[in-house]
Amino acid sequence: MPEFERLRRLRGNKSLRDLFAETVLMPRHFVYPVFVKDGLSKPEPISAMPGQHRYSPDMMPELAGEVAGHGVGAVLLFGLPDKKSPGAESCYDPDGVVQRSIRLIKESVPEVLVMTDVCVCAYTDHGHCGLLAGTRVDNDTTLEVLAEMAVSHAQAGADVVAPSSMMDGQVAALREALDANNLSEVPVMGYSAKFASAYYGPFREAADSAPSFGDRASYQHDARNARHSEREILSDDAEGADILMVKPGLAYLDVLCRARQLTRKPLAVYNVSGEYSMLKAASQAGLLDERKVILETLTAFRRAGADLIITYHALEASAWLTSN
Ligand code: PBG
Ligand code: ZN
Repeated sequence: MPEFERLRRLRGNKSLRDLFAETVLMPRHFVYPVFVKDGLSKPEPISAMPGQHRYSPDMMPELAGEVAGHGVGAVLLFGLPDKKSPGAESCYDPDGVVQRSIRLIKESVPEVLVMTDVCVCAYTDHGHCGLLAGTRVDNDTTLEVLAEMAVSHAQAGADVVAPSSMMDGQVAALREALDANNLSEVPVMGYSAKFASAYYGPFREAADSAPSFGDRASYQHDARNARHSEREILSDDAEGADILMVKPGLAYLDVLCRARQLTRKPLAVYNVSGEYSMLKAASQAGLLDERKVILETLTAFRRAGADLIITYHALEASAWLTSN
């Protein structure tokens, strides 16, 4: 017999496999993204994302109850405002759709953590993630609006604010504004390595946030660059982000893995809309075993180093995990 390792020894039966499993996937690792919009009498299906809906603020207590019932600890809110404008003013309206949704969740199911997306693309009439100077997205005037938006979310009761516009200095700007407004306990989750990605396609329908001209390549990160993504991670870390994020997930697991080596801070991965719709479509076509492929994918994010997984699969995956 040649000499070789008997690696199968530790996986010969389920008990052995469970004993040596290195990665744990549980409902508490999930964050559920929620789209809020006024004027709906019932949840409105999002056609590009089978199984996902837009909700109005009055539906938040019931939805938050469902989230808590599944053992999922947090939601991430996205607003679809009634009014869009060049200056995105409705994003910091204390009675805006997100601000009211936050209050309704914290009043009804306070143990559900409310995270909010802080970006103006759903609030600007041109759909870019910042204010324009001519046709350029202007970094520093955008920072002021993002800071106001984050403060208004936190004042409404948001537990975590998450800047996603990919402006330089966005984490520092939010941290400074929160601290100046007596909100130093509110953590910032930076969308640190957020790539310019076609996987956001379905989301832009869901949030009505597609840019009316051009693309997001001058502010979102270039898919070809891994070393540069390390700089994004390190700069958000240095700016005081409490949680760092890699987004999208599946095509960027190498970036997540690198981020895990670079920082001791918690890492989030965003399993984005296109990744969700891809698995849903293939499952509905009978090409993949839905439950298995989704749980395998979510497990991969944990294995690659994510503490938190922001995912539209949160509720169904939690139900599957707890019925095992
Ligand atoms: C807004 C934002 C986007 C996503 C999260 N926040 C869209 C974009 O940058 O175009 C994408 C989320 C998803 O695809 O699920 N800046
Ligand atoms: Zn945006």
